[in-house]
Amino acid sequence: MTPHTTDRLHITYVCRRSGLTAATLRFYEEQGLIQSAGRTGGKRVYHRHVLRRLAFIAAAQRVGLSLAEINAALAPMPIEYAPTPADWNRLSEPWKRRVDAAINSLQVLRTSLDECIGCGCLSMRTCSILNPEDEAAVEGSGPRWLRPNRSQ
Ligand code: FES
Repeated sequence: MTPHTTDRLHITYVCRRSGLTAATLRFYEEQGLIQSAGRTGGKRVYHRHVLRRLAFIAAAQRVGLSLAEINAALAPMPIEYAPTPADWNRLSEPWKRRVDAAINSLQVLRTSLDECIGCGCLSMRTCSILNPEDEAAVEGSGPRWLRPNRSQ
């Protein structure tokens, strides 16, 4: 069976197309994220739409979701179902807020590299302005101005 003449794809082809190892595919199967379509010649085969499901999993991981979170997102859909662009838009909506929060956090971090971070050292020129008399210490230890949801 060649991977291009049927809807069923050999595991080696799926690995090549997805960039994943056979061990990862088996692990995903164990986790209930994907399902094989049986075996041919002793090797696992998959329905073609597993490639889209694997792409969905990879994209979700890049957003920072755990496999458990991805599994929960995919759970309402039958396992032998490839998420459509509409599914992707619906499922990824809450992830966009997560990405936005990460971007915001990194921007704060980037800005703070040149500024006072409220760590109590009072060694930078900006400390007297941004952390006068170490007022950050009232909030606790560590670089207080780097914390999300800080009070200042
Ligand atoms: S950088 Fe440490 S208190 Fe300002």
